[in-house]
Amino acid sequence: MAKGNYKILTYGCQMNEHESEKLAGILTAKGYVPAEKKEDAGMIVLNTCCIRESAESRIIAHIGALKTLARKNPELVVIVCGCMSQQDGMEASLRQKFPFISIVLGTHNIDRLGEYLDEFLEGRKYLNRVVSGSGTITEGTPVLREANTNAWVNIMYGCNNFCSYCIVPYVRGRERSREARDILAEVSELAKSGKYKTMTLLGQNVNSYGKDLEQKISFAGLIRQAAEIAPNQTICFMTSHPKDFSDELIRTIAAVPNISKSIHLPVQSGSNAVLRAMNRGYTREDYITLTQKIFKSIPDAAITTDIIVGFPGETDEDYLQTEELVKLIQFNSAFIFMYSKRSGTVAAKLDGQIPIAVKRRRIHRLQEIQIQISRNKRGK
Ligand code: 5AD
Ligand code: SF4
Repeated sequence: MAKGNYKILTYGCQMNEHESEKLAGILTAKGYVPAEKKEDAGMIVLNTCCIRESAESRIIAHIGALKTLARKNPELVVIVCGCMSQQDGMEASLRQKFPFISIVLGTHNIDRLGEYLDEFLEGRKYLNRVVSGSGTITEGTPVLREANTNAWVNIMYGCNNFCSYCIVPYVRGRERSREARDILAEVSELAKSGKYKTMTLLGQNVNSYGKDLEQKISFAGLIRQAAEIAPNQTICFMTSHPKDFSDELIRTIAAVPNISKSIHLPVQSGSNAVLRAMNRGYTREDYITLTQKIFKSIPDAAITTDIIVGFPGETDEDYLQTEELVKLIQFNSAFIFMYSKRSGTVAAKLDGQIPIAVKRRRIHRLQEIQIQISRNKRGK
């Protein structure tokens, strides 16, 4: 017997998309069924993001808009989870602004959603289930996969890099790698199902996979084994950090036919002064050398990137260095963002915050340049 229906609203990155598949897996295992629209659902789960202020404002507006549904249906269960709720002070602010919210939980315990839901339904009292700490790894959470041809596979959680602009290490905790045997068992099962053309190994910085495990294994070793186990699928991976991209990985991608040649390699800036202030751990020259090495071994590599314009202190000269680098590397595509101040990060306290008009001018110019490059590359 179906207990009721739910709608999950997902914001942010692929990691969140996959986590929503786990939330759906937990709810369906408990007997709930997915609803087409939030208007028809007895339960609404918002899996949130806070990487930039724009994401956060959009989510807050969406939660606010649920007020009408909550008024119409006093039984409506509203759950807010993920990165946004994990931020300091956010749970209290959500509770105060939106008294119709039933449960708030962060990033470290979404696998316990089923338990919290039972607890809520028993007492019908608001639950704050945001826990601090670095989080652990739970295996065996059911997954209801949404994507048709691609299966996401988590290989690690969290991040240790503390790029000065980024909130991820604060809301997702330190790097934890899943045991290789658990990952490979999942890959094997997905391969056997015959449902997927691609599998994407997911982590904030996949290149540092395995460094925290007792049984040492590199990311190159892991992806080689995954490709062997799933010979009829293409194994993709994201995201790569330029400072940890090893020669062994380049050789592996070049040598193994069913490893994807698409490499997402965020550069963030083309200026050494900005890269240093961002705490990225490489220079413009290191990045150029790395891409040259990649193209030499993998001539059909497709490199995509992320770039931030308007980081505090970024001068016109710094910005022009980014423009020049974009023209030099010829990325297949680039996600370009305006710097967004995130409370609690090192960059939020830096002098020289850039006016919005300047950020806009820079992002528009750079996007124009990249659109032309992407178009030329597609035409090749
Ligand atoms: N402001 C703007 N962009 C950011 N990113 C991360 N943090 C911020 C921020 N505070 C971008 C980076 C990263 C991508 C996922 O989001 O480019 O690679
Ligand atoms: Fe954020 Fe840097 Fe970690 Fe990526 S590598 S999640 S940008 S801190």
